[in-house]
Amino acid sequence: MCGLVGCVGSEEAAPVILEGLEKLEYRGYDSTGISILSKERIIGQKAMGQLSILREKLEKEPIYGSTGVGHTRWATHGRPLERNAHPQYDCEQEISVAHNGIIENYLELQEELREKGHIFVSETDTEVIPHLIEEYYEGDLVLAVQKAISKLDGAFALAVIAAKEPGKIIAVRQSSPLIVGLGKGENLVASDIPAILHRTRDVYILEDGEMAEITRESVKVMEFDGTEIKKDVFHVTWDAVAAEKNGYEDFMIKEIFEQPQALRDTLTGKVDRDHLRVTLPEVGVTKDDLRSLKKISIVACGTAYHAGLVGKHIFERLLRIPVEVEVASEYRYRGPMVGPEVLTVVISQSGETADTLGGLRLAKAEGSRILSITNVIGSSAARESHDLLLTMAGPEIAVASTKAYTTQLLCLNLLGIFFAQELQVLSEDRRKALVSELLEVPRLVEKVLTTEAKIKELAEDFRNKENIFFIGRGLDYAVAQEGALKLKEISYIHAEAYAAGELKHGTLALVVEGVPVFALATQPTLYDKMLSNIKEVKARDATVVALVNNGDYEREKSVDYVLYIPKTHPFFTPILSVVPLQLFAYHTAKARGCDVDKPRNLAKSVTVE
Ligand code: M6R
Repeated sequence: MCGLVGCVGSEEAAPVILEGLEKLEYRGYDSTGISILSKERIIGQKAMGQLSILREKLEKEPIYGSTGVGHTRWATHGRPLERNAHPQYDCEQEISVAHNGIIENYLELQEELREKGHIFVSETDTEVIPHLIEEYYEGDLVLAVQKAISKLDGAFALAVIAAKEPGKIIAVRQSSPLIVGLGKGENLVASDIPAILHRTRDVYILEDGEMAEITRESVKVMEFDGTEIKKDVFHVTWDAVAAEKNGYEDFMIKEIFEQPQALRDTLTGKVDRDHLRVTLPEVGVTKDDLRSLKKISIVACGTAYHAGLVGKHIFERLLRIPVEVEVASEYRYRGPMVGPEVLTVVISQSGETADTLGGLRLAKAEGSRILSITNVIGSSAARESHDLLLTMAGPEIAVASTKAYTTQLLCLNLLGIFFAQELQVLSEDRRKALVSELLEVPRLVEKVLTTEAKIKELAEDFRNKENIFFIGRGLDYAVAQEGALKLKEISYIHAEAYAAGELKHGTLALVVEGVPVFALATQPTLYDKMLSNIKEVKARDATVVALVNNGDYEREKSVDYVLYIPKTHPFFTPILSVVPLQLFAYHTAKARGCDVDKPRNLAKSVTVE
């Protein structure tokens, strides 16, 4: 996730753009850049790190002009370096493009353009766009942009300026948000509403497949083929802080609802949709590497560790390679058996957790290959690993991890299928069935989110409980552990997860009348066993909430509450079943008056031991 802002008016554009970018830093901040149209030339400035550094550079060397675009970057393709920062340029620096999203077919476009003599200076996917526009430009910027975008696969929100057409910005939206701000004597474009609130409260919200030709006096919105569209003006009534949360009360609930998009973004570029194959260009582990493995070790902390527990099930079932999952703070001090015959998979949202990095460095020093799954491309984990798999969740602000977890689960599934492809242990039919079901997951998460009202009511009923248990078997047990962590960290209710078959070996003594038990029963092969465990706790008069697949309506007769999730392949169920548990934790914490985004005693990134 990145942030872009553009402005065309009569005042100096740079300060207006910088102020807008400041409001978008929550979308990423590893590098920044700005391009201003100044006397029919484009002049740019870029900086590594936060916006304040770009601001200082511009104070020393101002760029004057009333049309420009700016960008704050969350690196995906290409490390966070100045040359990879946006805006990106064509060969002559006469066309400048700020981009959010991912161009999936950039490598083939780059090759075609190189053959025609275009010179590329960055490692980004974005740079093909200004070069394509340059290739098609014949005196009409709108037409050139239309031709260029017809070549692009992937997600893109664009703001384009050209030296030959001063006083104009072309904005384009495809699968990445973009809005147009309608000001007085000026118009703006931005990835999100907070970026333009200092100038106007009237906006056009562009939809996928729409573009706009923006000048100081007018905004013409059209489809990609040029057909003009009449848009309604949306008048923003939220204050600036609420706008950053996009109208949500807290970042946590915003991030819960961002999960379908985060999952879609994570899938982008990792699946060949025509052949239903997983393609992971940044993972270089080969068939021979996999064949020589004695073990896969997953090392992580907290929620990322819980994702690893799900990964173990998937890898072992698909690959038949033993997998151990370990909490990094334990792993690093127990003298683990690790060496070149072990693949170490490190999972970390931030890529900066001290214990996880300690585990990574120890395993690397022993000769193990390190594959990191992280959300931050420039993080220590990303830089110190041999292979990288990025979750494209965008910045996660709330301390309680939600969209990072579900995108980690998605990556673990992609990795499992990718390794199975390499090892040729998956028939073509089975692979295609798995991949096509995986592509449906973002839509299914959207469906689960529609059940929020029911979960909010449940949270009201349980707000004064002191202990809540979560039980499950197999993958459900792994998700139960995440459900319990979510609840305790933000609502301060004591919550524990148990392997349902283990209850009778001690914990059942705590299950008495009225004690809430969340029973996860989504795994078909373990379903009958789970029913017996549900009976066990019901027999002690526990208040049971069953979380089951759609269609299991019988359950309503034997438990107190039932939550449903859509049916999918059992490997993907955790991505769906955790969502009601996230919503339950959130609404319970809200009902108890807790600060959900900043729970007591906790920090977002634990960079100390
Ligand atoms: O950044 P990381 O994924 O390495 O963080 C690990 C844990 O600190 C983190 O998952 C923590 O457990 C969550 N904030 C809990 O919601």
